[in-house]
Amino acid sequence: MEHIVSLCKRRGFIFQNSEIYGGINGFWDYGPVGVTLKNNVKKFWWESIVDHRRDVVGVDTTIIAHPETWRASGHVASFSDPMVDCRLCKGRYREDQIEKDDAGNYICPTNKCKGDFTEARAFNLMFRTFVGAQEENTAEAYLRPETCQSIFTQFKNVLTVSRQKIPFGIAQIGKSFRNEITPRNFTFRSREFEQMELEFFVKPDAGIQKEWYEYWKNTRYQWYQDLGIKKEKLHLRDHEKDELAHYASACVDVEYDFPFGRSELEGVADRGNYDLNQHIQFSKKDLSFFNQEANEKYVPAVIEASAGCDRTVLTVLCDAYDEDEIGGEKRVVMRFAPHIAPIQLAILPLSKKLAEPSMKVEADLRKEFKTDYDDAGSIGKRYRRQDEIGTPFCVTYDFDSESDGKVTIRDRDTTKQDRIAITEIRNYTLENMQRKA
Ligand code: GAP
Repeated sequence: MEHIVSLCKRRGFIFQNSEIYGGINGFWDYGPVGVTLKNNVKKFWWESIVDHRRDVVGVDTTIIAHPETWRASGHVASFSDPMVDCRLCKGRYREDQIEKDDAGNYICPTNKCKGDFTEARAFNLMFRTFVGAQEENTAEAYLRPETCQSIFTQFKNVLTVSRQKIPFGIAQIGKSFRNEITPRNFTFRSREFEQMELEFFVKPDAGIQKEWYEYWKNTRYQWYQDLGIKKEKLHLRDHEKDELAHYASACVDVEYDFPFGRSELEGVADRGNYDLNQHIQFSKKDLSFFNQEANEKYVPAVIEASAGCDRTVLTVLCDAYDEDEIGGEKRVVMRFAPHIAPIQLAILPLSKKLAEPSMKVEADLRKEFKTDYDDAGSIGKRYRRQDEIGTPFCVTYDFDSESDGKVTIRDRDTTKQDRIAITEIRNYTLENMQRKA
């Protein structure tokens, strides 16, 4: 993991937020190649969930919602972790994460003292803020801990305007905030992160719910493979009955073998019609669906597929990371699938004197591909930089290029070089991108 974290900083994927002030635990910034990688992941999710389907529409709702939202969803009452304080070192810990000795006493994680712990108290994970000029209870609001609740509160509006019929889904990508007690494993558990959530509404019927649950479970598992993640590192783990939220009848996690262990990427759950019913009860508004053809009215059940965007990016980074040896020299290479690589083609002139014609080639390719132009340092150094940011193809423009109209194109994975016509770069790249995908 240290190698990946160090590469992320060195090459501009991910930086610690406020680093110049010593950083702030649980907050991370994406650098120039990181933001492109993240955008590519979001685009790939949005296309497969919304753009390529007739039965899912998108929304973009606010981070702060009416506080009643979080009372209805149950977050105000129970979105909490049990916390204990060590009276000796004043540390605060999650009760379920501290070790016990043979006699059943907690071992304080900070200094391994036996500790003298307070009783466990519930610590709500929602960030609180105030809306308006007054800092009083009536103005209190929360930063959303999940993006899906506004999908439920907007259900009726979306149903009306989209003219969809059950079954259909509403999707959203956006920031969520959780005051995690122990943010850790790089971006895996952060306090500010992005979710990619789909709420798919179906008729409340055990058989129909099961059918769609299975469908989304398989579809989402396949999506990570299509993203380019190695299948052998992806797993589906069904929740045991005692792990399920009281309203959920089934839940499965998509997991990945991270360097720090197998961990959750996404949860697919059959939430029944709990959420809509809660909002009906709290808002006293009708959020039911009327099926005109069958003349029946019901509150739909929902199958949720809730993915973490930052966790997916971290998975892509861990999965792509590789070290190998080329001609006796060690190198780090990020083997991203070309469709999500931050840069697809790098144009590298052999000399700064070749800037004008090589920039022209780059400008043409930029219209279709994500390109980079780099003329600084030796060609070997430039290849290494491109390998570390995972650029699948590097084009070298040399002194013969102008007379013979050809360039050398190098494959990131094999380092094999081909001499091809400038007019062929486009087709060569497209064909080889497909081969790698
Ligand atoms: N609406 C359901 C929901 O939010 P969740 O299991 O709490 O379910 C869904 O979160 C996904 O959001 C997780 O699988 C994970 O990928 C991501 N996620 C949750 N907490 C996170 C955190 N602290 N940091 C990064 N990602 C997080």
